[in-house]
Amino acid sequence: MKVLRKINKDIYYIGGSDLRLELFENLFPLTSGVSYNSYFIDDEKTCVLDTVDSSVADCFFEELDIALKGRTLDYLIVQHLEPDHSSCIRKVLEKHPKTTLVVNARCKDMLFAMLEQELTSPIQIVKENDILKLGRHELTFVMAPMVHWPEVMVTYDLTDNILFSADAFGTFGALSGNIFNDEMPIDKEFFNEARRYYTNIVGKFGGPVQKLLAKAKTLPIQMICPLHGPIWRTNLETFIEKYDLWSRYEAEDDEIIILYASMYNNTYYACMDLANLLANQGIKNIKLYDVSKTDVSYLIAEIFRVRKIVLASPNYNGGIYPKMLNLLEDMKALSVKNKIVGLIENGSWALVVAKQMKEHLDAMGNMKVVEPIVQLKTTVKEENIAALEALSTALINE
Ligand code: FEO
Repeated sequence: MKVLRKINKDIYYIGGSDLRLELFENLFPLTSGVSYNSYFIDDEKTCVLDTVDSSVADCFFEELDIALKGRTLDYLIVQHLEPDHSSCIRKVLEKHPKTTLVVNARCKDMLFAMLEQELTSPIQIVKENDILKLGRHELTFVMAPMVHWPEVMVTYDLTDNILFSADAFGTFGALSGNIFNDEMPIDKEFFNEARRYYTNIVGKFGGPVQKLLAKAKTLPIQMICPLHGPIWRTNLETFIEKYDLWSRYEAEDDEIIILYASMYNNTYYACMDLANLLANQGIKNIKLYDVSKTDVSYLIAEIFRVRKIVLASPNYNGGIYPKMLNLLEDMKALSVKNKIVGLIENGSWALVVAKQMKEHLDAMGNMKVVEPIVQLKTTVKEENIAALEALSTALINE
């Protein structure tokens, strides 16, 4: 038997959290799990919005049975087909063969590949602004392609002004009984994880997120129910403002971070000298990140956060050090743009890395490399200190 949480007088939370998962999408490290949210509307017609990941399926089906109280499930709205939300669809339809699937046309096309079998359940295709009447609740649909997959749509409850936002406004982290934003600390750590989720999962798709935000602005939203993380029922603008900044690729903080690769600490020592020079000139909150020791998802989130970055890499097999190369490739893949960039290269045999790093940066958008580029030959020499000093001043003046 389970105890359910209501999100208002007739909508229930029927999701679950996986605290044992170490890598989301088998890629992103999790420190405190992740939640897969699903919602049940108890009206004249019963309705579920999205299912959950297979890891919490048992919990979901038990909660759904409790919420249904012996009734049939009339509608299953599928907003997003990624398996962390769709892996229980087939079983829902097996248990409730008369349930009508509510999807958009793109989702219907992709659904058959997901289900790996012919669909015998009724299916209702919806498009932008269509209305689904459940009784007290009237739902409408807003297409949100590429937030985060092409079939994504979000659902707006016209009765209670609730936005069911799919992956948008999600975050990493399990829910522990407290499912609302006002029941937990929405602090720096929360936004660090929310930013890491956004930038790595949806970061590439800033344009589509901006389109969704523009549509959302026209709605009197009282509550946001995402597919991961807490439900927002207070201070919605706090999170919406972050999404606006992130999706416009604008920095939150006018700060400097230094991301370095270093095999024998020589490049690291140059970065420390640069940090000291910046600090001597009054710069605060400088952060150094070893790209070999820090998962790239954290680096991407930090790069989105700040306006100025320094990249430092040794020559490795005539190219960029592999971990730095991986970071640059990820930056490109996630559409990083609008940064002021300092470069430090270290080449004991040949100075070729800064040029290669700059080529990667030039393939991004509006990445301004400031002069001078600091060139080390193994260790930091006196002339390198002068160049580091000039770089620190150039960064400050930007
Ligand atoms: Fe949480 Fe794009 O799936």
